[in-house]
Amino acid sequence: MRVLLTGGAGFIGSHTALCLLEAGHEIVALDNLSNSSPEALKRVEELTGKKATLVVGDCTVEADVENAFAAFGPFDAVVHFAGFKAVGESVSMPLEYYRNNLDATLVLCKVMEKHGCRSLVFSSSATVYGTNPVMPLREDYPTGCTNPYGWTKWINERILTDYCFASKDMSVVLLRYFNPIGAHESGRIGEDPSGVPNNLMPYICQVASGKLEKLRVFGDDYDTPDGTGVRDFIHVCDLAYGHLKALEYAVSHKGCEVVNLGTGEGYSVLQLLHAFEKVNNMTIPYVVTPRRPGDIATCYADPTKAHTLLGWQASHTLEDMCRDAWNWQKHNPNGYQGDEIK
Ligand code: WQD
Repeated sequence: MRVLLTGGAGFIGSHTALCLLEAGHEIVALDNLSNSSPEALKRVEELTGKKATLVVGDCTVEADVENAFAAFGPFDAVVHFAGFKAVGESVSMPLEYYRNNLDATLVLCKVMEKHGCRSLVFSSSATVYGTNPVMPLREDYPTGCTNPYGWTKWINERILTDYCFASKDMSVVLLRYFNPIGAHESGRIGEDPSGVPNNLMPYICQVASGKLEKLRVFGDDYDTPDGTGVRDFIHVCDLAYGHLKALEYAVSHKGCEVVNLGTGEGYSVLQLLHAFEKVNNMTIPYVVTPRRPGDIATCYADPTKAHTLLGWQASHTLEDMCRDAWNWQKHNPNGYQGDEIK
């Protein structure tokens, strides 16, 4: 397959690019580099010995998307990663989030149709389940969001579902990610958040590297085994492989499917922290603070559909995730911006 990856220079995009290249496919990344670095794809090329073309452009700009198709197509399928993804930022800048994340999908569908590309895998999120109390989460459970970022994912799922219903030749797989963490085992590519990390694992890694003083544990009074939040942490390489399986399904079927990509196991903040300490033989200082507004107590997947429909299941352990996350951080303390420590 020849696949266009919008946002393909990002954390999950670059790991998916590597996975697709290793499986013998061709990839082109369309990325505006607003939250990514071209260095990621250069390292993907070094790791695979194959070409990872980067087209710098914005998915909300039709001419940029058209250029990618005209210059580097035709594409058998598209994986649509491109979008703003910071929950807190979306609360303070809702219009920018709705414009960017929704326009990108609408423009992409228009250009795909013009070029006869009829298979799409979309980067959705478990955040669309909102405050669902019943665990594990199944794809047919009620949805509803608690922040504009989540609503952009929810509305994009709606757009693509309706588009598929109207266009019988279209195929869409909506992948609901749980909590992607870790890095490729080489330590050459990984998560490179801009500024102070919002998410748990990159924050822990920056405490471990001395860049940050200590971890704030947002609440230990939840109705969970140790009082801290429980999440379904999934290795980014398992997530990447899920995209390969979703693409193989999309190009051989029609219609729209929603699929969870999670391990089906929930681990608490403190369980992750102690696993990180044990596997990397270090102590991570932390302090318990009040809950973070908008957080839910527990969120983990029922991954049955991914297994039965796509033939996929996660294989990496929590220890793998902790070891690989630290291996990336310690060799790249400043992400792609600084010099790599060999
Ligand atoms: C995990 C747990 C926090 C940071 C978000 C998005 C979701 C997806 C993944 C894009 C929670 C606790 C965190 C910290 C902490 N992103 N925590 N101290 O909120 O589950 O999901 O990222 O798709 O859409 O909502 O991930 O890593 O921010 O938090 O105690 O410094 O860690 O309270 O229990 P979250 P997270």
